[in-house]
Amino acid sequence: MNQDILMLDGIVKRFGRLVALDHLDFSVRAGEILGIAGPNGAGKSTALAVCTGQLPPNEGRIRFEGQVLNGRPPHEFCHAGIARTFQIPQVFSSMTVRENVEVGRDFGAPSGRRASSGNLEEVLALTGLQDSGGQGAASVDLITRKRIMLAAALATEPKILFMDEPLAGLNEAEIKAFADLIARVNAERDIAIVLVEHKVRTLARLSSRILILNFGQAVRLDVPEVIMSDPEIIELYLGKSHAA
Ligand SMILES: Nc1ncnc2c1ncn2[C@@H]1O[C@H](COP(=O)(O)OP(=O)(O)OP(=O)(O)O)[C@@H](O)[C@H]1O
Ligand SMILES: [Mg+2]
Repeated sequence: MNQDILMLDGIVKRFGRLVALDHLDFSVRAGEILGIAGPNGAGKSTALAVCTGQLPPNEGRIRFEGQVLNGRPPHEFCHAGIARTFQIPQVFSSMTVRENVEVGRDFGAPSGRRASSGNLEEVLALTGLQDSGGQGAASVDLITRKRIMLAAALATEPKILFMDEPLAGLNEAEIKAFADLIARVNAERDIAIVLVEHKVRTLARLSSRILILNFGQAVRLDVPEVIMSDPEIIELYLGKSHAA
């Protein structure tokens, strides 16, 4: 499927005098996993925040399935079918795992597209939470908090899911497990995923294309095989410390 569902066109985002996104253009295709990589401060998280409605751009246009979304509040981005997860997963610790996922769903579900409770069960099973729904969320470990945050995003029935460094803080076995889960979500629910990740080998394994950002600009966009075999890209933008 090569059809673009989300298009960024000439996006500029400034923080005072700092230009975090500098006429950024890119598109996300239906059903793909688009990887985004680049040095610290390149604008990756800012790009995600613009795509999901948390930060309004100073210039440029965000189009999703033909609709211009500029100026809409974040919950309307979510209602349109755009969801996200954060680098540091937050849970409501006074609630159970299932209640946390329900809260996520209720934020995202528009009245006309309210997710069914069948969907909630499916999402809990897909994310490996089927047996821990009744558990209190206060004491769960990091990967379980990540599963909860992913489940809450999926419960809104998104068409596109943005994930900011989903593998950060996980050990090697957990990285493998969570990367496999991301691949399964993409394949089984037919959701386009935009993945920002410093762990570039895993990113290359998951992604159909990789976009390299630097100083708020798109400097390269290509298939992982090409990106990962280009010594200049590795040297200039990906660094040696970002293995895994
Ligand atoms: N709320 C903000 N106010 C001011 N400056 C900001 C804000 N958010 C980000 N910036 C700046 O914008 C630039 C892009 O930041 P961003 O967080 O998008 O980078 P990043 O690519 O996600 O980096 P990292 O890999 O470290 O997560 C940086 O120079 C950062 O300091
Ligand atoms: Mg970031």
